[in-house]
Amino acid sequence: MCGIIGILGKTDVAPLIVEGLKRLEYRGYDSAGVATVKDGRIDRRRAPGKLSALEGVLKERPLKGAIGIGHTRWATHGAANETNAHPHATRRLALVHNGIIENFAELRRELKEKGYAFESETDTEVCAQLITYYLETENLPPKDAFGKALARIRGAFALAVVFLGEDDLMIGARRGSPLALGRGDGEMFLGSDSYALAPFTNRVTYLEEGDWAVVTRSAFQIYDAAGRPVARPETLSSAADAMVDKDGHRHFMAKEIHQQPEVIAHTLSRYLDPASETVRLPDGSFDFAKLDRLTISACGTAYYAGLVAKYWFETWARLPVEIDIASELRYRAVPYAPGGGALFVSQSGETADTLAALREARRNGQKIAAVVNVLESSIAREADVMFPMAAGPEIGVASTKAFTCQLAALAAVAIAAGRARGVLDETEERRLVRALLGTPRLVAEALKSADRIEKIAEEIARAQDVLYIGRGVSFPLALEGALKLKEISYIHAEGYAAGELKHGPIALIDDAVPVIVIAPSDALYEKTVSNMYEVMARGGRALLISDRKGIAQAGDKVWRAIEAPEVEPMLAPIVYAAPIQLLAYYTATTKGTDVDQPRNLAKSVTVE
Ligand code: AGP
Repeated sequence: MCGIIGILGKTDVAPLIVEGLKRLEYRGYDSAGVATVKDGRIDRRRAPGKLSALEGVLKERPLKGAIGIGHTRWATHGAANETNAHPHATRRLALVHNGIIENFAELRRELKEKGYAFESETDTEVCAQLITYYLETENLPPKDAFGKALARIRGAFALAVVFLGEDDLMIGARRGSPLALGRGDGEMFLGSDSYALAPFTNRVTYLEEGDWAVVTRSAFQIYDAAGRPVARPETLSSAADAMVDKDGHRHFMAKEIHQQPEVIAHTLSRYLDPASETVRLPDGSFDFAKLDRLTISACGTAYYAGLVAKYWFETWARLPVEIDIASELRYRAVPYAPGGGALFVSQSGETADTLAALREARRNGQKIAAVVNVLESSIAREADVMFPMAAGPEIGVASTKAFTCQLAALAAVAIAAGRARGVLDETEERRLVRALLGTPRLVAEALKSADRIEKIAEEIARAQDVLYIGRGVSFPLALEGALKLKEISYIHAEGYAAGELKHGPIALIDDAVPVIVIAPSDALYEKTVSNMYEVMARGGRALLISDRKGIAQAGDKVWRAIEAPEVEPMLAPIVYAAPIQLLAYYTATTKGTDVDQPRNLAKSVTVE
């Protein structure tokens, strides 16, 4: 993640920007920079490394100007050096960015053909040059040039831009990454969260998904994704709130569900090169070509992520996978193959069963890899190779963004395994990488159904028992959906392989038992929907989660339907996790349970 800030101030803003960046360092600190506009010039100071390096540069060469932007970077595309440090500038503007520009390769090619030169390897610079292109070639005013460029850019990002010759204008946009507007007294602020704005103001307006804002010192106008002027509520964020910022959400779980486009993008950027559309794994990874079998183990939600990955390793790499929950694996007499590989998935990196299973696998001569969010945790330290997730701190006990970031990392590893084993050719790798790069945007799209899901959840909240069914990669998602519902709403829920229903569980079906059917339009859609019809034939209420095509095909007798965006079928769990999580969240809020700290649970189970 990166942190961005922008200030339309009354005095020199560089010191204020640094003050704001200090509060954003938790988002990344590979490099930092500030740009200001003054007397017909754009001036920049940038430095690799922590913010203190930039402070040293500014001490040597102070920056003047009452309008400016700043950025603290966690490197995604391009090395963490000064050239790639934000702000990026052209002859017309300076820009900072947090997120991922999916189509930056094609835009970069197009702009190069139009004579635009690039100084960095970043996707961010493409945004700066694209807006400049519209300013110059179509002679558009900044707002129109920005709006036109925004319509061309695909991905999940937050942007802040200042323009040469405009000393009372700043434009910001939010698509998949958070951006807050702060109103001061004759000053205005943009920041990645209210914590960054806390030193300057507590009057905060959060841009919503797809919003962009044209800001002057006296006012701002927010536009929605379609360019229509909209009003968003102003909140008063207390310093305490700002310290543990919920970004305007009621619960951390809600904030973390909505952070997914941003953090999935950051996790992917640790593995994917959008320019070559290839995967690159951290050094020291498994030699997948020589691996006969991969053991995967974890607990709870992390185990369900591992179960999805089993389908990916088998399909993309033809690699046999043995998977088990850690509390069982650690006590089994597993016939580990000498020189085999074992992969452990854990958000906290401290789960006792997972750590014990890891040590048992090591004792049996396995090379150990771990997909972990807390990079200095025990599991991370004891693994031979670490596959990081960039989910950021997950406060809500119910795991949401950690799950999808685990999936993002595991999908990249499975694609790389397929390439290493000569099963997946370059064309298929590029296709899958492109599809993976598109998932942050699709998750943002899926989150737009929140209001509709909240209505449906009010009905689910009245149930005593709920079933979830799915096939293929949607089967682990059925298990995850049931776990989410159980652990935060306390409603009894079970997940089943859809094909398993008729082998007993269908006896549970009557009109009091909602059945959540997870069925993207894939090769197994027909099969899953026929199981849904079996449920409906017995008076069961089916809630179908599918894409537009799948919902239309299922007919209008379905009790309720939630539409998810179309996605590469094998990657559906990353996108379909969003409606699943929202359904559990709103069912819990309807019931009034303690969503962030449900009864009997702990965030990290460090005991057996
Ligand atoms: C998921 O919502 C739960 N909080 C729980 O199942 C969790 O996934 C499990 O305890 C594993 O935790 P870990 O990822 O930190 O190892």
